[in-house]
Amino acid sequence: MNKKAIITSALPYSNGEIHLGHVASTYLPADVTTRFLKQNGVEAYYICASDDYGTPILIQSEKLKQTPQEYVAHWNKRDYEDFTAFDIGFDFFYKTSSEENISFVQDVFKKIEKNGHIYEKEIIQAFCTSCDKFLPDRFVKGTCPFCNAEDQYSDLCEKCGRIPEEIENPHCSICGETPVQKSTNHYFFKLKNFSEPLLEYLENAPYLQKDVKKYVENWIKEGLVDWDITRDIPWGVPIPIDGLKDKVFYGWFDNHLAYISSTLKFLNDKNIDGKSFWNDADIYHFIGKDIVYHHYLFLPAMRLGIEKEFKLPDYIPTRGHLTLEGKKISKSRNWYIGLKDFLEKFPADYLRFYLISINPYSQDDLNFDWEQFSTKINSELIGNLGNLVNRALGFTNKTFDGVVPEPEKFDEKDSESEQKIKSLAEDIGKLMEENHLDRALKQLMEFSAHFNQYFQHKEPWKKGPGTNACIYLSVNAVRSIAICLQSFLPKSSQKIWSQLGLDGNVSDVNWNEMSNLELKSGHKIGATEPIFSKIEQSVIDEEQSKLGN
Ligand code: 2FM
Ligand code: ZN
Repeated sequence: MNKKAIITSALPYSNGEIHLGHVASTYLPADVTTRFLKQNGVEAYYICASDDYGTPILIQSEKLKQTPQEYVAHWNKRDYEDFTAFDIGFDFFYKTSSEENISFVQDVFKKIEKNGHIYEKEIIQAFCTSCDKFLPDRFVKGTCPFCNAEDQYSDLCEKCGRIPEEIENPHCSICGETPVQKSTNHYFFKLKNFSEPLLEYLENAPYLQKDVKKYVENWIKEGLVDWDITRDIPWGVPIPIDGLKDKVFYGWFDNHLAYISSTLKFLNDKNIDGKSFWNDADIYHFIGKDIVYHHYLFLPAMRLGIEKEFKLPDYIPTRGHLTLEGKKISKSRNWYIGLKDFLEKFPADYLRFYLISINPYSQDDLNFDWEQFSTKINSELIGNLGNLVNRALGFTNKTFDGVVPEPEKFDEKDSESEQKIKSLAEDIGKLMEENHLDRALKQLMEFSAHFNQYFQHKEPWKKGPGTNACIYLSVNAVRSIAICLQSFLPKSSQKIWSQLGLDGNVSDVNWNEMSNLELKSGHKIGATEPIFSKIEQSVIDEEQSKLGN
């Protein structure tokens, strides 16, 4: 049976544009992994959706005098366009506000409730009498009791990063009035019921990151608290109980269920039984480290609450945050780079190359640095890889009319180089399977560096003995690079493929093919031109000067 995989990445809120921080931690690693799995013949689908519900989205739409539906439709489309420009190849991009997700979430709730994991409880909450509204989360602003910063949200002080238990001088973020306290009935999910099964799940999930597992296990051992899954706002998945008005599920109750509901929609539309596929597949959820709690606790607990009708995740690759030139990204301080803006100035593959190469498989934060970006592109991508492609293919065109020559008997250096081609698929494949995308890319660069040195050492321009073997092996190494590069830099890999005079899409070529010497003597390569162009310092200076202004 064919191997199967479902890959998701944290759903972007329909509430603003995608920036470099988003793609670095989540979308790019998931995209590279999906492409790699596909290259290995796995029936893999990359599924995502916009996260449409929640208080901040409702507030924003009200500010703009739009319906929340109009507001989220705008961002769903825009985000998808930006992802596409970055060659994030979703197989399906849907939305949490889809009718499929709404009915799926309601069904899940009914099952969880039937299984005894839900209870109702009266809570006291801020209520604005002038707006006639309950004020959950971001609807209340006030002074942070920790750092005295004014105008902070009641669920998060952006100044000191803490979550106040009770904000001082509370006021309604819509009209400014002081709210009153009023009672309301909420539903709670008995997260406590799942302490044991969650520990068991974590213990038996060999592919979860060990360090993350450890601190999640500690959270469980310290004691879990039940989870309020209700919000008194009109924008969200309605709670399927008669007579409830303006009561919906909390966004984190419904959003991760859209991983499943969107997959079912996509597969069922292709006449594939979505549920069986899900349960036969390896399940990957790519996330940033800020949402570990939700993905290692709420998400599996809810799947356990419906008796594992849908398999729990095998992989939850969790990566750190991106800082920008050493400082926290902040839109309001203009310490920020939007993805769309970036891609208007630089090719997608430059950003892909840079972000993959600085992004380890760990919780460590990573830093975007303009100078480092420019050095990586100019010295490594262009100076090493681009240079090899250019000189090997250029030389073949110039000296052999583009025809791969018949190699002489290999000497020691040739055999060593041939061996590097033969072991490439396995060497890099192993790192990819272990999620070490950065190390895999580094190893490919070392392969390229080796062939540059080999070419230099052989001095084929002197046309001495061994020239043919050098060209034969170098052109085959370029073919290996094109195949390997597909998951990382899809556009550049296709360009190299075409310059090699090869037809079709390199994405259709199996991963292991990179270790075959497939270009025999007599093969005619295509016309060549540089794949990349250098980044000028003046461009970097200009970009740097925009930050913070
Ligand atoms: O933190 C966020 O940006 C959320 N929108 C992620 C949601 S992931 C979920 F669907 F599980
Ligand atoms: Zn108000």
